[in-house]
Amino acid sequence: MILSIKNLSVNYGLIPAIRNLSMDVAPGEIVALIGANGAGKTTILRAISGLIKPAAGNVIFDGQDIAHVKPHLIVRSGMSHVPERRGIFANLTVYENLLMGAYTRKLLTGDLEEVYSLFPRLAERKKQVAGTLSGGEQQMLAISRALLSRPKLILLDEPSLGLAPQITKSIFETIQRINKSGTTVLLVEQNAQAALKVSHRGYVLEVGEITHSDSSQALLTNDAVRKAYLGEH
Ligand SMILES: Nc1ncnc2c1ncn2[C@@H]1O[C@H](COP(=O)(O)OP(=O)(O)OP(=O)(O)O)[C@@H](O)[C@H]1O
Ligand SMILES: [Mg+2]
Repeated sequence: MILSIKNLSVNYGLIPAIRNLSMDVAPGEIVALIGANGAGKTTILRAISGLIKPAAGNVIFDGQDIAHVKPHLIVRSGMSHVPERRGIFANLTVYENLLMGAYTRKLLTGDLEEVYSLFPRLAERKKQVAGTLSGGEQQMLAISRALLSRPKLILLDEPSLGLAPQITKSIFETIQRINKSGTTVLLVEQNAQAALKVSHRGYVLEVGEITHSDSSQALLTNDAVRKAYLGEH
């Protein structure tokens, strides 16, 4: 496993958000973590990337327990987190935002060409101030920036948030391309249908606990999952 979460608990003050949760991601996989508003998806990603400290449990990344390691060191060890609502620098240009993504390493010629070939739109708009990009373009920029640290594992928090279906489809196709070129992906989504279509396996999260874990194909055809998350009645 590239990532192994064991018996993770996270509290906000006295209120438990995640309870005794375990999940795994194998190298090369796209794993989807789906669940409703407030289920705890963002909390899990923040605990994995070191932004919040768990109350209990282990987060083993690439053989090392990182549950109490500082976020910038976790990035250096090969994990990159694209936060919900993207976290780009609105006042900087596309190009300047990309430079920030490479802060852990020297930017090589070819690095930018690589992200521009994944997202040609960004090349056209490299001098544009990021805050004026469309929602889809901002998502492309956030993913590109995360890729420039050359992660082994990328955490994506609701990349489809606020995007039209056609843009979501194109972003998810690119996520598959990124995965095929060797990056492992943990994808958090409320858009269960889209996430399960592009992922290999999935976990369903309900109020801080995993209720289903299976191949994405099996989850797409599971009656309880269809009723609760895929709009089937
Ligand atoms: N900083 C915080 N302080 C207190 N409670 C919090 C904090 N952040 C999140 N919570 C609570 O923890 C629970 C899980 O929140 P989280 O943001 O992880 O859910 P989520 O699954 O990402 O939801 P969404 O799909 O809406 O993004 C919610 O009940 C939320 O209100
Ligand atoms: Mg969230």
